[in-house]
Amino acid sequence: MSMQPTGIKTVTYILHNDADWQSGLQAAVQALRRGELVAFPTETVYGLGADALKPDAVASIFVAKGRPQDNPLIVHVPDEEAVLPLVRSVPPVFHHLASHFWPGPLTMILPKAPHVPPETTAGLDSVAIRVPNHPIAQALLRASGIPVAAPSANRSGRPSPTLAEHVLADLDGQVAVLLDGGPTGVGVESTVLDLTQEIPTVLRPGGVTLEQLRAAVGDVALDPRATALPGAGAQVAGPVRSPGMKYRHYAPAAPTVLVEGRPPQVWERLKQLVCEIPAKKPGLLLTDDGAAWFGQHGMPAGAVVCTLGPLNRPDEAARRIFAALRQLDAVGVDRIFIEGVPTEGIGLAVMNRLRRAAGGQIVQADTM
Ligand code: TXA
Ligand code: MG
Repeated sequence: MSMQPTGIKTVTYILHNDADWQSGLQAAVQALRRGELVAFPTETVYGLGADALKPDAVASIFVAKGRPQDNPLIVHVPDEEAVLPLVRSVPPVFHHLASHFWPGPLTMILPKAPHVPPETTAGLDSVAIRVPNHPIAQALLRASGIPVAAPSANRSGRPSPTLAEHVLADLDGQVAVLLDGGPTGVGVESTVLDLTQEIPTVLRPGGVTLEQLRAAVGDVALDPRATALPGAGAQVAGPVRSPGMKYRHYAPAAPTVLVEGRPPQVWERLKQLVCEIPAKKPGLLLTDDGAAWFGQHGMPAGAVVCTLGPLNRPDEAARRIFAALRQLDAVGVDRIFIEGVPTEGIGLAVMNRLRRAAGGQIVQADTM
């Protein structure tokens, strides 16, 4: 996909050391008011924002990202109170969830108010809303008073951006203002929770874990597509509740295979695959434990290794995963081999992204 020249010059403001805080915020607020695009950090990933109530502004998000028209956006607001004008009603569980997890990486799907344009919700009768927990996102939402529709600030299909540099790599010249807040904290996107179903249902695992949700409100379902196991989308009956779940995503350029299972079988199987599948420059995405094992058992010649942190630190894997996928592309590996991580806690969100990055090329080490 070639990018059309836009005539837009992206102006970057550095906010994380306070240098451009005032001027950056002012420029971003003005851009939003003019219906232009603003990239800004949240605690999960960088967002590509526009005024959620301006159809033309929202439409330009889809153009800049090359995003399919049927994939709805998340609307960002500064607090729970700001949700009410955007929805027709909220179930009782909403307040409980909001007080537990907001501000934070939880997105809730609610019946939309009539004035929320179909451009924002991709024609759905519901709207996705979240209150981000990041000082820059909060300052932008409060200073502008604008509900901001914002998908992750990457070209569609690419890994989500956890650094301002990632945003520039994908969207330079497509966005008026970029607020650089340094690295984001959580690293994977928010958990998308559907409150329009009888039982709150996780459509996309993310920064708030299933365990945390269940501890807070009891019964919470997991949409089968949210695990992103191969064929899950094709085999699961019923409607696709989260359109984003049906697209190949986070995919590096090189063919990618993911190996799942327990150590040391997962490492043995990985090594076997690296030896069997011809590659000039194999890329390995491993836990620190996996990298240490390969160190002892022989690293393949010419391999490039990126690490996700210790096996028992899924939060660290979440922080690193997207930058690592971009890094492997940047160094030009021709095959990628990924070590799966346990699906407990935020590990479920990490594995959802890794499974989708592998595009269904998943090997189970335990059942060989
Ligand atoms: O952490 C995040 O959520 C980041 C930051 C910027 O807030 N945003 C983000 O947005 O990841 P995006 O557009 O990349 O992902 C939004 C997800 C998609 O899977 C989309 O299909 C789903 O939310 N979604 C949005 N509105 C929906 C709706 N009304 N019903 C069901 N799913 C919805
Ligand atoms: Mg995205």
